[in-house]
Amino acid sequence: MALFELIDAAWRADDVAAKCHTVDALIPDYVALSLGESLPVAAREVPVCADVGRPLKPLCVSPAALPFRKAVDPEGRAALLHAIAHIEFNAINLALDAAWRFNALGPAFVRDWVGVAIEEAYHFSLIHDRLVTLGYRYGDLPAHSGLWQLAEQTAGDVLARMALVPRLMEARGLDAMPPIFRAFQGIGDKATLRALSVIARDEVRHVALGDRWFRQLCSKQHIPVIETYQALMTTYDAPWPRPPLNEAARRSAGFDDDEIALLKAH
Ligand SMILES: [Fe+2]
Repeated sequence: MALFELIDAAWRADDVAAKCHTVDALIPDYVALSLGESLPVAAREVPVCADVGRPLKPLCVSPAALPFRKAVDPEGRAALLHAIAHIEFNAINLALDAAWRFNALGPAFVRDWVGVAIEEAYHFSLIHDRLVTLGYRYGDLPAHSGLWQLAEQTAGDVLARMALVPRLMEARGLDAMPPIFRAFQGIGDKATLRALSVIARDEVRHVALGDRWFRQLCSKQHIPVIETYQALMTTYDAPWPRPPLNEAARRSAGFDDDEIALLKAH
């Protein structure tokens, strides 16, 4: 299959295993793009966000309806891993959607987000393997309903997409990592810590890609980075970062001290 047919097929796949399998089939195209091959023409229309492929389960509920999760007992551990698996599953769709919907930005943009999709599918499999050891599978527990919402709201604007998905939501994910690490450290679960270490390393790079593309788009439009970012969060009524921020990870991903200070002061 040609590149955009594969991206489209992976984006639409309802079945989790089929989606991950189709994303893996993108690896040769990712390598080719990384080696500087030009982008084939997208022969079909980008679908509307609502048609994205996802399984019937998990049942998606409002975040308030989800119980507080602690890793000390197996049920809490499974709930925490299930929540992470859900984030990774949505992250596959978000990365595919960016590569597909905004492909007019060129081969480097498509390469970056196809690369992210490949890593997110790997993250999903790492966490899902841990979930299976506890006797659960993805879909067995309810999950957060809001993760796709910002994708739908920003479908017409790549500047807002880069700001609000990688540079806001994924950066909030960086802030969430230290307590998750501490929880699994506390129970001595080395296998999960190993999986989380891979995820934490890759996620810094994903936020950094969003940061780089956001800065590039701002520069092209001659608009300021920090003010534009904050204005977009207000316009889209997006959730601001919640302290404590993971300042080291955010700095590695491209946030500077001034912006971190502003986010903390909000
Ligand atoms: Fe991930």
